[in-house]
Amino acid sequence: MSEPVQTPQTFPTRIFSGIQPSGGLTLGNYLGALKRFVEKQDEGIETIYCLVDMHAITVWQDPIKLRQQTREAACGFIAAGIDPARSILFNQSQVTAHAELGWIFNCIARMGWMSRMTQFKDKAGKNSENVSLGLFAYPSLMAADIMAYKATHVPVGEDQKQHLELCRDIAMKFNNDYGVNFFPIVEPVIEGAATRVMSLRDGTSKMSKSDPSDQSRINLTDDADTIAKKIRKAKTDMDPLPDHVEGLKDRPEAKNLVNIYAALAGHTPAQVIKDYAGAQFGTFKPALADLAVAKLSPITTEMSRLMQDPAEIDRILGEGAARADAIARPILNDVYDIIGMIRSRQV
Ligand code: TYM
Repeated sequence: MSEPVQTPQTFPTRIFSGIQPSGGLTLGNYLGALKRFVEKQDEGIETIYCLVDMHAITVWQDPIKLRQQTREAACGFIAAGIDPARSILFNQSQVTAHAELGWIFNCIARMGWMSRMTQFKDKAGKNSENVSLGLFAYPSLMAADIMAYKATHVPVGEDQKQHLELCRDIAMKFNNDYGVNFFPIVEPVIEGAATRVMSLRDGTSKMSKSDPSDQSRINLTDDADTIAKKIRKAKTDMDPLPDHVEGLKDRPEAKNLVNIYAALAGHTPAQVIKDYAGAQFGTFKPALADLAVAKLSPITTEMSRLMQDPAEIDRILGEGAARADAIARPILNDVYDIIGMIRSRQV
């Protein structure tokens, strides 16, 4: 008798991504992630978006601020175009499958893999003896976030690429160790002109919500005046814009502003350079400021309107969490079966 043919399990396209509510949302989060979350939703793909509050506490957070920032980020998502009826939007701690699978993945991931994570090295710096164990384990929780839904595609900025490679390694090792084809091997989706938005004060470091200088970033809560001022004051060199994108090489600040313009306008950097070849920053910066205000102000205004009703935001997050849990729980139950846990409790 011949062996039954094993048909490889195929995984339906499902998008998952997350943002830490560890501060306000920045232009980097918006262009590198959020704007693209909306595009994926609007393409009609199944989309699950998460405010990863469990990741945020890998560094101490003031409880009152954390709650506030989580609601504010949820408002940012909705104001930017995430429709909670079409996408699942929730905060991570309301779906316990993340933490449960995170532990299992801690037992799959190898110390050597985790030690190579450059973001941990950057964040811990010389202080690695004093940072939390959670900060070290964080990429394995991130893998659990994604695999709890068997998500196949993850839109992120460039800085998350290595974490997604780790997610692939963990999924492959799980499948191998248990002889299953259970978890998909996720595809990073790192697209567009602004996969790495840089600081407005230093074109060689990433725009980040944790940068001590508020001038280094544009926050989604900044008003029109502040946005325009920050762009006008952004660090640049003295030369006019080149007539070809290659001319931006070794000009990190100029390149950053061109990329931001391109991402906001929905153009390629080459198109922007074509329109502004030879322009001085005295011309380009006001044009960029106008564009940024035109694109971001409606989001800012809608965000502050939504923030007036925190109970409604909490309701949306709760409803999203229930929908997320309905997907993740059966997957977790299968994982427990695969790894040999008894589950005899009557519910
Ligand atoms: P976080 O909160 O640091 O950033 C959220 C998203 O924004 C992108 N991003 C940027 N993109 C371009 N330029 C920038 N300057 C910039 N800054 C941030 C990030 O790449 C990210 O896509 N570990 C993640 C959160 C996370 C997650 C997940 C993401 C937890 N679980 C599962 C995807 C899937 C993080 O700390 O992102």
